Amino acid sequence: MFSKILALALGVLTLADAHQVPLRAGSDVDVSTPTGAQDATIFSLVYGIPLTQYVIFADSIANKSSGQWTTNSILHETTLANATYRAIVRPNVDTLYSESLIDLSVNDVVATMPAVEGRFFVWPFYDVYGNNFCNIGTATSSRAGKYLVKYSPANPGCIASDTGEYAGTINMPTPYGAAVLRIEVDNTTDADYVVSSIQRTFTIVPQAVDRPQVAPALTRSLLNDGLDVNDIPLYIMQLTARIAPFNLPEESKDVAWVTSVLQLAGISDGPYSQPSGVDLPTAYSAALAEINSIETRGFFTSFGNGWSALRADVSGDFHGHYNVRAFVALEGYMQLNITEALYPLYEVDQTFFSNQSYTVEFYGKPQVLAFWSLTIYDEQGYMVPNDLNRYSLNNRGSMTYPNGTLISETPADSGARFYMLLQSTDYPASPEWESNWLPTPADGKVFNFLMRFYRPENSLFDGTYEYPKVTAVEVNPPIPSAL
Ligand SMILES: *[C@@H]1O[C@H](CO)[C@@H](O)[C@H](O)[C@H]1NC(C)=O
Ligand SMILES: *[C@@H]1O[C@H](CO)[C@@H](O)[C@H](O)[C@H]1NC(C)=O
Ligand SMILES: *[C@@H]1O[C@H](CO)[C@@H](O)[C@H](O)[C@H]1NC(C)=O
Ligand SMILES: *[C@@H]1O[C@H](CO)[C@@H](O)[C@H](O)[C@H]1NC(C)=O
Ligand SMILES: *[C@@H]1O[C@H](CO)[C@@H](O)[C@H](O)[C@H]1NC(C)=O
Ligand SMILES: *[C@@H]1O[C@H](CO)[C@@H](O)[C@H](O)[C@H]1NC(C)=O
Repeated sequence: MFSKILALALGVLTLADAHQVPLRAGSDVDVSTPTGAQDATIFSLVYGIPLTQYVIFADSIANKSSGQWTTNSILHETTLANATYRAIVRPNVDTLYSESLIDLSVNDVVATMPAVEGRFFVWPFYDVYGNNFCNIGTATSSRAGKYLVKYSPANPGCIASDTGEYAGTINMPTPYGAAVLRIEVDNTTDADYVVSSIQRTFTIVPQAVDRPQVAPALTRSLLNDGLDVNDIPLYIMQLTARIAPFNLPEESKDVAWVTSVLQLAGISDGPYSQPSGVDLPTAYSAALAEINSIETRGFFTSFGNGWSALRADVSGDFHGHYNVRAFVALEGYMQLNITEALYPLYEVDQTFFSNQSYTVEFYGKPQVLAFWSLTIYDEQGYMVPNDLNRYSLNNRGSMTYPNGTLISETPADSGARFYMLLQSTDYPASPEWESNWLPTPADGKVFNFLMRFYRPENSLFDGTYEYPKVTAVEVNPPIPSAL
């Protein structure tokens, strides 16, 4: 059951969806006649959920920096994500990450991007809610050099410059944010090369600026102290009260009504003050139902054979789609915009148990300008521990056609089929399957998987490419070519 406020907010979404239809004056949400604190609380929970992921991201950077709180610098991950990685859910194992916690409360930041030849990389910038509002790197053909990162809520995004001290300006919609550089790596040897020769040439440093402070300094204490972490809905409201008043919506047309709805819910200037009559647990259930319901409300595009992905216009940069923003924060915070990567999920509603093996039959290689992969996750979105340290299969690694030829060795796509085997670590793959085996959890546990298409070509959207077919099979089935 949708609350009225959310229904209204979704009304705005529907209008905003049709960008060509100009909003009529007065057709926006009328928050001068709010419908009650309970509904406002439901909206505020949906609105604030991404902030919980921001705290995890920030704390994990501090943990990896020997417990030192570090903003406006860059932390290079020197190994690919593995089963101990916790900074974000559903990390990839295609790229090395370099993470930055950005705080523009009192200063600007200068991000320096080197020239990197012959290798995909993307340097995405995010606002505090996980909106990927700017990307520099391979896909955007950005010029190497210095980029000035400024708090500029009136015109979020990046602006390239052909002349002058800066190769471009990055206008952040919120004073707090993040950057999560991803550099393609092919294997562990390649990763060592990237770490020693490429990563460190990307830098982030603060730059003093003469202007008033726009938010409290982003500290560990601000994000962590004095919050009731054991009461999730209360925690979200308290955290939102600390962060949201200084970090306004990316869409400037939403600022006024979002501010009023937050106020009605007890969030304005100071700590969260729960309005009388508000039932937080009930509001939280309604907020989660609202977030989950996006799966059935037209926000996904179906590609056939059970695969679907978020619609291109709500991928990575969510604008006014607060429910999708919360969904992605919980499912894969700091997603990339569609121009960088397409993330097809297999049947978001289906449950896969690792007491069952599955084959994934590909009808030819996915067509991408960069590269692609399929990665398995446990129920929490973390990697599945296994003896091979293999979390993903992709176009660069061990995978072979049924005749044993490496997939990576056939340059052009012949449309020839190949197969992955998804099978529990309890049942190691037979030697014939090992190169194409992707281990699923032990003990019959639940898992899920997704593909990543970096710099996807149109064939992956327009129905030309037939998406792979997933089939339940016996343990170590015969190699399909033998059938
Ligand atoms: C950071 O370290 C603390 C203390 O060890 C731990 O409780 C917390 O879960 C860690 N957070 C992350 C995101 O790794
Ligand atoms: C997983 O990654 C961590 C951090 O990079 C590293 O210390 C650890 O050795 C890795 N574990 C395996 C099994 O590779
Ligand atoms: C995101 O993708 C859209 C196409 O859907 C594009 O118009 C927009 O410029 C992209 N934004 C960023 C930040 O990459
Ligand atoms: C690792 O990747 C590099 C760079 O693509 C490649 O030259 C090398 O052959 C690869 N090594 C293995 C063992 O696959
Ligand atoms: C696997 O476990 C699930 C859940 O317990 C059960 O429904 C299913 O029948 C099992 N499948 C097999 C092949 O044992
Ligand atoms: C194996 O199959 C692939 C895909 O059909 C093909 O490109 C390759 O030439 C074959 N290799 C051999 C040795 O037949």
